[in-house]
Amino acid sequence: MQQRLGVNIDHVATLRNARGGAYPDPVRAALMAQDAGADGITAHLREDRRHIRDADIAALMDAIDIPLNFEMAATDEMQAIALRTRPHAVCLVPEKRQERTTEGGLDVAGDQARLRDYIAPLRDAGARVSLFIGHEPAQIEAAAAIGAAVVELHTGHYCDLHAAGDFAGRDTELAALQSGAALAADLGLEVHAGHGLSFETVAPIAAIPSVMELNIGHFLISEAVFMGLGPAIAQMRAQMQAARGA
Ligand code: PXP
Repeated sequence: MQQRLGVNIDHVATLRNARGGAYPDPVRAALMAQDAGADGITAHLREDRRHIRDADIAALMDAIDIPLNFEMAATDEMQAIALRTRPHAVCLVPEKRQERTTEGGLDVAGDQARLRDYIAPLRDAGARVSLFIGHEPAQIEAAAAIGAAVVELHTGHYCDLHAAGDFAGRDTELAALQSGAALAADLGLEVHAGHGLSFETVAPIAAIPSVMELNIGHFLISEAVFMGLGPAIAQMRAQMQAARGA
């Protein structure tokens, strides 16, 4: 099966909100991503609503034909919204107000009992529950133990090391992501990956055999300024396929 590409449209909303008006419209971007062959749309409704807003989630659910991956923090407010919205997938991420982006993975191992109870109603409502975690075996084992369907491995550190020119560190991080992905698949979890990926960094992650989906946002939206969103998605897809020898 072809590795899936989920396109995160959060930063179309960031640009819209910079001026407080109605454009650029994240729903229009989602439809354009769909036309360009994206397999899903990801949107993160943050507690502070800094980019995506509640009305965007409702409009996306109405407009798109491909699955919505609803990213959110594990709070009561977000659980209620997800249960009302009924997206295809819910991806739980840690959230800190001061951070610029999602900096680390969720501490599933340290919060197992609460998260087990938290995801049960989401799963019962038909959502595929994904946990955004680091590659540490304890986190992966905890995700399997509490009944998550999916883990998304955080590739941000790998991308940061690449950008800093620390190629030895990057390769060590890549090896840890590779073994984390293998462990997760052995435990019966579907494996996704994402955060910070670009044309420069995507190939080794796309090449990890058990990684079934990549979720990519900021780089694609940035590149859309120069080459257009459709062509940026098409090039990303081509690089993913080339990396998998497809
Ligand atoms: N996956 C998850 C779980 C994320 O939180 C994010 C960022 O919102 C992404 C993927 C996409 O990251 P980026 O925008 O850096 O491509």
